[in-house]
Amino acid sequence: MTEHVSHQRSDTSAPQAPVRKRFRVQDFARSKNDGHKLTMLTAYDGVTARIFDEAGIDLILAGDSVADNMLGYENTLPVSLDEMIVVARSVSRATKHAMVVADLPFGSYEASPIHAFETAARMMKESGAHAVKLEGGARIAEHIHLLTSSGIPVVGHLGLTPQSENMLGGKRVQARSDAAAEQLCQDALALQDAGASAVVLEMVPAPVAARVTEILAIPTIGIGAGTEVDGQVLVWTDMAGMGDWSPRFAKQFGKVGQALSDATRDYIAAVKDVSFPGPEHTFEK
Ligand code: KIV
Repeated sequence: MTEHVSHQRSDTSAPQAPVRKRFRVQDFARSKNDGHKLTMLTAYDGVTARIFDEAGIDLILAGDSVADNMLGYENTLPVSLDEMIVVARSVSRATKHAMVVADLPFGSYEASPIHAFETAARMMKESGAHAVKLEGGARIAEHIHLLTSSGIPVVGHLGLTPQSENMLGGKRVQARSDAAAEQLCQDALALQDAGASAVVLEMVPAPVAARVTEILAIPTIGIGAGTEVDGQVLVWTDMAGMGDWSPRFAKQFGKVGQALSDATRDYIAAVKDVSFPGPEHTFEK
């Protein structure tokens, strides 16, 4: 990462550690121009958000995938705005450098531009997020225009939009036909014209994602969209290997679930055989 790193001013000649600045909305355009690949992960709480932030991630998505990944819902539809605000607030409070993007949940913005504004304003005020993400194309362009012209940065989301999975017939690859690919391009341009800062492309054939990336001046962030996009996003539990399964487009970069399970077993065994707590964990009178 080079864009949002600067050096502290100093009167001495001693070399100064680089200071990482917060990723700002202007950094989207700069990244696209510089060919810097954007990195984004979901986080649903402050503990994980802090780890991703300190590791150098550009963007953290307080995603509505918290619904099925953490909260025990079947899909993203049931999660409420109140629940999303708690999630986004926890992520925002723990994050010093990344931009926090908060998902607006299903049913909280679609009805009208005013509906979207009221929800987005509440999210921004109460969570401290820096931007919001909405699913959909031209049909919500006016909503996005009202948000961006009112000072709320927006990330769009096209391709597989999980909040519409009942209409889409499940979680399947989108924009496979020429007509659907053309529609996706038109939708992406509509989001850009409405002032969106970036667009997530989910489960889109790689050549279609490459085409969208080429025609847009704003960055695309892919998930299951190949490499010819301006950045990548993954659900953190898939990235870290929290479970045995992850979608085909995700790669497990660790085995965190196994490590947690091993630690838990060790803890249980140590409590049972009274090797924990040891003298170093124990207070004397
Ligand atoms: O909520 C989420 O995890 C998302 C990603 C799939 C981009 O929207």
